[in-house]
Amino acid sequence: MSIAEILDTMSYGPAPESDKEARAWIKTLGGETKLFIGGAWKKAKTGESFETTAPGSGEVLVRIAQAGAADVDTAVKAAAKAQPAWAALPGHQRARYLYALARLIQRHSRLFSVVETLDNGKPIRETRDIDIPLVARHFYHHAGWAQLMDGELADREALGVCGQIIPWNFPLLMLAWKIAPAIALGNTVVLKPAEYTSLTALLFAEMCQKAGLPEGVVNIITGDGATGEEIVKHPGIAKIAFTGSTEVGRRIREATAGTGKSLTLELGGKSPFIVFDDADLDAAVEGVVDAIWFNQGQVCCAGSRLLVQESIHDRFIAKLKARMETLRVGDPLDKVIDIGAIVHPVQLERIRSLVEAGVKEGATLHQPKAGVPGKGCFYPPTLLTGVHPASTVSRVEIFGPVLVATTFRTPSEAVELANNTEYGLAASIWSETLSLALDIAPKLKCGVVWVNGTNMFDAGVGFGGYKESGFGREGGREGLSAYSRPKWLAKAKAIVEKPAAQATGDVLSTGFVDRTAKFYVGGKQARPDGGYSRAIVSPSGALVGEVGEGNRKDIRNAVEAARKATSWSTASEHNRAQILYYIAENLDARAGEFADRLAAMTGQRRHDTMREVSASVSRLFSYGAWADKYEGAVHKPPMRGVALAMNEPVGTLGIICPEEPGLLGFVSTFAPAIALGNRVVVVPSASQALAATDFYQVLETSDVPDGVVNIVTGDRDALALDLAKHEEVDGIWYFGTAATAGAIEKASSGNLKQVWTEQVQRDWFDARQGEGREFLARATQVKNIWVPYGE
Ligand code: NAI
Repeated sequence: MSIAEILDTMSYGPAPESDKEARAWIKTLGGETKLFIGGAWKKAKTGESFETTAPGSGEVLVRIAQAGAADVDTAVKAAAKAQPAWAALPGHQRARYLYALARLIQRHSRLFSVVETLDNGKPIRETRDIDIPLVARHFYHHAGWAQLMDGELADREALGVCGQIIPWNFPLLMLAWKIAPAIALGNTVVLKPAEYTSLTALLFAEMCQKAGLPEGVVNIITGDGATGEEIVKHPGIAKIAFTGSTEVGRRIREATAGTGKSLTLELGGKSPFIVFDDADLDAAVEGVVDAIWFNQGQVCCAGSRLLVQESIHDRFIAKLKARMETLRVGDPLDKVIDIGAIVHPVQLERIRSLVEAGVKEGATLHQPKAGVPGKGCFYPPTLLTGVHPASTVSRVEIFGPVLVATTFRTPSEAVELANNTEYGLAASIWSETLSLALDIAPKLKCGVVWVNGTNMFDAGVGFGGYKESGFGREGGREGLSAYSRPKWLAKAKAIVEKPAAQATGDVLSTGFVDRTAKFYVGGKQARPDGGYSRAIVSPSGALVGEVGEGNRKDIRNAVEAARKATSWSTASEHNRAQILYYIAENLDARAGEFADRLAAMTGQRRHDTMREVSASVSRLFSYGAWADKYEGAVHKPPMRGVALAMNEPVGTLGIICPEEPGLLGFVSTFAPAIALGNRVVVVPSASQALAATDFYQVLETSDVPDGVVNIVTGDRDALALDLAKHEEVDGIWYFGTAATAGAIEKASSGNLKQVWTEQVQRDWFDARQGEGREFLARATQVKNIWVPYGE
């Protein structure tokens, strides 16, 4: 036999990783786990527990404690007790703890990898080479942020106690994504791992003890969704960070509404994997393997929708099928295995039934001949071809090793199909023409784009979704804002809205009283749909003017106009800057008129209203300045390549301005939004609405394209709710009372829009509170485009 023949016929023998140490560690748990609270191990007060099994074999590994409400309460109290001292430590001290954790994870990396593989069923190759190294990287990276916080984030502080709920697909990695940034910035945490995969979180708790982390900084409690719910509703928690299904994410959005808790959600996806006809097809086939068969496809950003250019479809699918035959499915602890076990029989059943539904709807099923092991929880790599973009398997997140394939003809059709989903987590583009790939990348509505690559992650590069894939970023500088807040907020007073002044019948003539101001929609003045108007009354009760009373239909029209003004979002930053300067100039030209109007509506002295107009002009200049300076970043993750962090507009924003100051509050909110390319529907102050309706002429004379700024006057709280319920609004800013803020948050769960509610008084005249990066960050979402180098 020649060497070539030997190589051809050679098959892989088993290469099992020893699980001796992992099992010895599991034994130390004593058959039933405890909770890690306040630096000590405590029995669950419920006395309840459940089994955790090894998906590869089905055997029970240990029983996991089920924490109940009382346990959650104890954990939150321990975290709250620890938080002030932890936050008060110099950043350098916190950095040393994070550094120690990173080192400990590296020193015990094999134990972590094997325990993770046993408990989750993912191949040891992945836990050893991907998950655990990334966990260590996350702690190193955030040790750095702890060190730099005092200088780089000098005006920000920790939020308090963070409740963190994570899924089972990357158990320790998700823990790292949550805990590292939180504690780096001085928060303390109560974290709950997923019920199928609690073990590495408990091993991590032991590392916290080894590192001498102060008691209560990290608390790990185990349990199922019911425990998660207790965390979500606990009043001692300042922030909830959740990764998991969109369904539960939506429930958490509703449960936290009105509580003042901040929230970040990393949810599901149905990410496109787009192959152009000039792609390196063999590389793209390997890309598919990584996109959908990595971690058995149980990956939120899995490239689960294959879009192939029609001309290469047959050739590509043939190559892919050939590659599928060589994938090895089996014992996750075997080092030569490509595809391990599905996490749990429940998940296996879900995959099976979705594939069945796909076949029933007309898809053609392809699975390799080898099949799967008879014992354990396995599903073969699966390809469904000929799927319709509207079919169940094209729309629903399967969360298994199932790829659905369809074709496209032109780049624009690829973009349209790629965006045809309510999700927006990630995308992968394959083309040897970089200019094509980089033209497509910004057009995809998702938070991460990989060019000629897939499933790349790094602590320094933010990760997170658009649309119903959630909001907030983890990793990168942008991830830090979710775990900190401006320092001035702690001392701010709650907004108290004064009752509207009662009309006495007097008329305070400023020359416009006989004319009811209309709305401003699509660049034109529009009459209120309901035909009602409302009086604007001075503090002394005199009538100053009348404005339209908006309703749901008016909001609908305004949103439609805003959505149509798409060219604003792709206009050059220079162009947007010029228009903002122009608005400022035109407002300045009419400063006296605006000052008179404000004086009439507020009863303030003209000297003071003139100050407000000047501050508004200056603010517009600020955002003209920012428009071409709020740039992204070029990250250098540890690989040959770059990740381009681009600040993209959120889309269509509903802005409910603060009640006062009428003009400055209006300008300070719509200007940052449009500076960065959003189109807005603005509901101005109700009592000072004339400041906004007088502004129409300023907008008209400043070359603002139709539909970029739309203004509807009326009852702020009612209109806010109409905006919150509107499925085509991408984000809402609301400055007002706690009650309405809660209602908006609840109503926004439909399409999981990005909501910024603020119930405290800002000093809008103070540039540190009234303008700057906080507004710009709210007006954008970061998209990271990974571009690897090499031949
Ligand atoms: P899940 O969303 O129910 O579980 C994620 C975490 O949330 C777990 O820790 C769970 O205990 C907790 N949880 C469940 N209900 C809760 C509630 N009401 N309040 C607070 N916490 C709660 O996900 P599950 O059931 O494990 O998987 C179902 C489907 O979700 C999967 O088939 C997959 O499609 C999707 N999924 C998506 C993930 C992602 O990363 N995008 C991760 C896990 C699941």
